[in-house]
Amino acid sequence: MIKKCLFPAAGYGTRFLPATKSMPKEMMPVVNKPLIEYGVEEAIKAGINNMCIVMGRGKHSIMDHFDKNYELEHQISGTNKEELLVDIREVIDIANFTYIRQHEIKGLGHAVLTGQELIGDEPFAVILSDDLCVNERESVLEQMVALYKQFRCSIIAVQEVPEDEICKYGIISGEMIRDDLYCVNEMIEKPERGSAPSNLAIVGRYILTPDIFGLIECTKLGTGGEIQLTDSLLKQARYGCVLAYKFKGKRFDCGGVEGYVQATNYFFEKLYLKGEKKLKLLRKPLLKAT
Ligand code: UTP
Repeated sequence: MIKKCLFPAAGYGTRFLPATKSMPKEMMPVVNKPLIEYGVEEAIKAGINNMCIVMGRGKHSIMDHFDKNYELEHQISGTNKEELLVDIREVIDIANFTYIRQHEIKGLGHAVLTGQELIGDEPFAVILSDDLCVNERESVLEQMVALYKQFRCSIIAVQEVPEDEICKYGIISGEMIRDDLYCVNEMIEKPERGSAPSNLAIVGRYILTPDIFGLIECTKLGTGGEIQLTDSLLKQARYGCVLAYKFKGKRFDCGGVEGYVQATNYFFEKLYLKGEKKLKLLRKPLLKAT
């Protein structure tokens, strides 16, 4: 039902300078895998095969990563290093990748609108790959796709954040319709101290219905002089329905140093079996989406 996932990946990643001066933030590795690959795996687990990536200047390594590298494959063929390419080979085998360039970095709303060309007129998922989400059982996007099947409206992932972090996020409030589900009626991007309607912060997972594109088109520049997706979603919430879902699982903000280090420690513990003398990488094969 949700067949495409949009990855806005054109941002400058200024919180991670100088590392992101010439390297895309999305390609920063957590243990041995780039952030965006975790996002693509999450989308595949949610049954989505088409990855639509919004690129910017200097982001070519993302395209190269999701492509075959025959020289390298030839070089390590028959050695024990081949094992390290199993995951990415599987991703390339299962998923299709399409790319579009965002010529001006005018905000997340503008990046999503740029992706319209690749998405067309159908509901779609959005993953911000610097928000690394994990859950032992259903992935966060899988949980959201299941909700979409039930409610057929836009759904945004939210998480409670401490008081002193509220000003860094888009914050929602709404009518609680279930323990973990709110019908949104208020939304504000990076509220000033004391003006937030709640402590429920939007994180980088969305399911959007395609009417969002028209709403973004008539959204004026907002906080930070950018076209904010939050402002367009608020319009959608006011004339229709937007649900905010308190997902099950952990989320690491890998757009900043602290969250990135926490994610690295978490995945190192999770992915490696620590034997007596050497570390062994544990793999969980992806299921082919049907
Ligand atoms: P961020 O707000 O994290 O911005 O964007 P950023 O540029 O990536 O990072 P900082 O804040 O300067 O450190 C959220 C997501 O939206 C994408 C980013 O690539 C990131 O995945 N984005 C943002 C775009 O694709 N285009 C934009 O114009 C803005």
